[in-house]
Amino acid sequence: MIKFDKVTKIYESDSKKVTAVDSISFEVNPGEICVFLGPSGCGKTTLLRMVNRLIPITGGKIEVNGQDTQSLDLIKLRRSIGYVIQQNGLFPNLTIEENICVVPKLLGWDRVKMKKRSDELLDLFGLQPDEFSKRFPWELSGGQQQRVGIARALAADPPIMLMDEPFGALDPIIREHIQNEFLKIQENVKKTILFVSHDIDEAIRLANKIAIFKDGHLMQYDTPDDILASPKNKFVEDFIGSDSSLKRLTLLTVRDLLEKLGRFRKQTKYDPHRSQSTIQLSDNLRTALSIILSSHTGEAVVLGQNGDKLGVLTVSDFESLTSVHPSEVTAIRC
Ligand SMILES: Nc1ncnc2c1ncn2[C@@H]1O[C@H](COP(=O)(O)OP(=O)(O)OP(=O)(O)O)[C@@H](O)[C@H]1O
Ligand SMILES: [Mg+2]
Repeated sequence: MIKFDKVTKIYESDSKKVTAVDSISFEVNPGEICVFLGPSGCGKTTLLRMVNRLIPITGGKIEVNGQDTQSLDLIKLRRSIGYVIQQNGLFPNLTIEENICVVPKLLGWDRVKMKKRSDELLDLFGLQPDEFSKRFPWELSGGQQQRVGIARALAADPPIMLMDEPFGALDPIIREHIQNEFLKIQENVKKTILFVSHDIDEAIRLANKIAIFKDGHLMQYDTPDDILASPKNKFVEDFIGSDSSLKRLTLLTVRDLLEKLGRFRKQTKYDPHRSQSTIQLSDNLRTALSIILSSHTGEAVVLGQNGDKLGVLTVSDFESLTSVHPSEVTAIRC
């Protein structure tokens, strides 16, 4: 568990004082992804870097598993925390394998163990070790470099990861792909992750909890669903945007809706020649809704993993679930 207790940071330069983080308190549970969200300059990076003491704290304290980080040995603290920055920070003169093994090398691992770990991580991120290990960072695409940056932070298996806009420089399609990959990996590794973003959609997709900041103050700390359903103030409401009901749909899957409706049919064979629109059980409801709205029949067949038909959904099925305003449905249709 990571506990922020009245954490404050005041930058002082010449005669000017900037309170970048103002008495912030909240707790992050082990194994959860907490996204720090907010506009530029609200203090996200400052708060993140105080956790591994890259930035000295001015007031309050940060505890990791009940221990005040100030009282911990700095090197031990840093080694227990993986850190990923936006421009991945790979060393240009080191190969991919050497980059991944920077911390293991510091920890004195032998060559065989390091090579094994590097191969394992490259595999995990879909990069063939034979093809990529000996390359240099500039021989990789931006998305591949970003994967290596995360692999490097995971190399010594730290229980905590700090990630500062790690996907910010990627184009939207690659970004979504890596986000999904990252979530799958997190299902297995279950790290406690503090993840900075200024993108509400990214936060909703990744977070177990979202902390929204404004001018160094914590505006709301809640689950994505609670933030979308009950924004605490006007700032949060404006930040999440006017289509919060639709955003909530991304948190639920077709399976959730069928279960709620009690409409799981007996499986029947689906005839692909009928050219009906289809959706998968695991699709999120926003994707499902846009497929239904663009289908000529106004409905979509739900397919199970083996391609069998499990049910049919129409727009009106969504009414039972959430108060999607008709104007929002029009927005998604466009
Ligand atoms: N070294 C510094 N000296 C003085 N002021 C600083 C310093 N670093 C950051 N600040 C100020 O502290 C505030 C918070 O900065 P911080 O970098 O934490 O914001 P951020 O939320 O990460 O922004 P961004 O989304 O742009 O990365 C800003 O007003 C910034 O100008
Ligand atoms: Mg920042």
